[in-house]
Amino acid sequence: MIILGIDTSCDDTSAGIVLDGRRVISNVVHSQVELHHPYGGVVPELASREHLKNIMPVVSEALLKADIGMRDLDGIAVTVGPGLVGALLVGLYYAKALAYVHNLPMVAINHLEGHILSIFLEEEVPAFPFVALTVSGGHTSLYHVKGYGQYSLMGQTLDDAAGEAFDKVARILGIGYPGGPVIENLALEGRGNKINFPRAYMSHDSLDFSFSGLKTAVALYIKKWRGGQTETDGVKISDIAASFQESVVDVLVQKLIDAGRKTGVLAVMAAGGVACNKRLRARLEEAASSQDIRVYCPRPDYCTDNGAMIAAAGYNRLLTGEKADLSVDVRSKYPTQELSPID
Ligand code: KG4
Ligand code: ZN
Repeated sequence: MIILGIDTSCDDTSAGIVLDGRRVISNVVHSQVELHHPYGGVVPELASREHLKNIMPVVSEALLKADIGMRDLDGIAVTVGPGLVGALLVGLYYAKALAYVHNLPMVAINHLEGHILSIFLEEEVPAFPFVALTVSGGHTSLYHVKGYGQYSLMGQTLDDAAGEAFDKVARILGIGYPGGPVIENLALEGRGNKINFPRAYMSHDSLDFSFSGLKTAVALYIKKWRGGQTETDGVKISDIAASFQESVVDVLVQKLIDAGRKTGVLAVMAAGGVACNKRLRARLEEAASSQDIRVYCPRPDYCTDNGAMIAAAGYNRLLTGEKADLSVDVRSKYPTQELSPID
């Protein structure tokens, strides 16, 4: 089954073509980083306009690269949420038009299910059940994944997402956008144990996250550091970046491994933009190996937003005969208790 997956949930216009939910034939992403860079974050109105400009060329390029035409497709999968409403609408209505004109079944996909199933685009995949951490600019959530379409939310952020914290700290430091990659690079030269920023573990057995306190603590530190009011002792900007990153990584690693232990699974995975972070990947490997748990992370291109992961999620839904009505709408958010279309 050949599926076209489309995602326009945030600032990437993406389309991927995937065979049987596993083999990526093409994956095209048009990034809007340059457009939003001067603002230090995504400007929703600009994102929608840019998606409108790029959705047709991106889908055409995905077909061209796959060397197939619309008639070779067996279905279309499209993200309907969570995300920016104006941005989601572009992908959804383009998918609807394609499905109608070419008489193809269409399925509506939760962006987070795409991130979880992105691991199936890799050669080595975890066996069910496993625990998944989806960690990006919009989300930080832990799911117990029992099978395709069977996800139980175990914990989530009560305020900022981890990627959002990276982006905000980078903005305060004035070092660029998106914050994750620039902080990771800067941290390579810094000392992660130089400043003891807070780690919000919440209560002892909580699997929820909170990053807003850390963001505030870093902001206050930077203010004093710039004003020369703190023990400067040779503290460099790279030390701040490394110490902040260490604090985020500590919490993410501990909670993911705890969730793995609690459920007794043999495998955990991390996906979403923040899962590109090499320090996070290394620390996860280290922590999991002492617990006999295996760690799986998709390659960076499948961690950041992409259409291939949406096609992978769509394959499993189309197989079960699921089909979205053409009246389906986008959803900016999903209620906490509702774990789906994730469920
Ligand atoms: O999954 P994604 O592409 O889009 C959302 O669904 O949000 O994630 C983007 C987020 C941004 O906040 C970005 O700063 C963060 O992922 N990110 C990283 C890294 N690369 C991207 N965070 C930490 N380290 C990285 N290397
Ligand atoms: Zn995402």
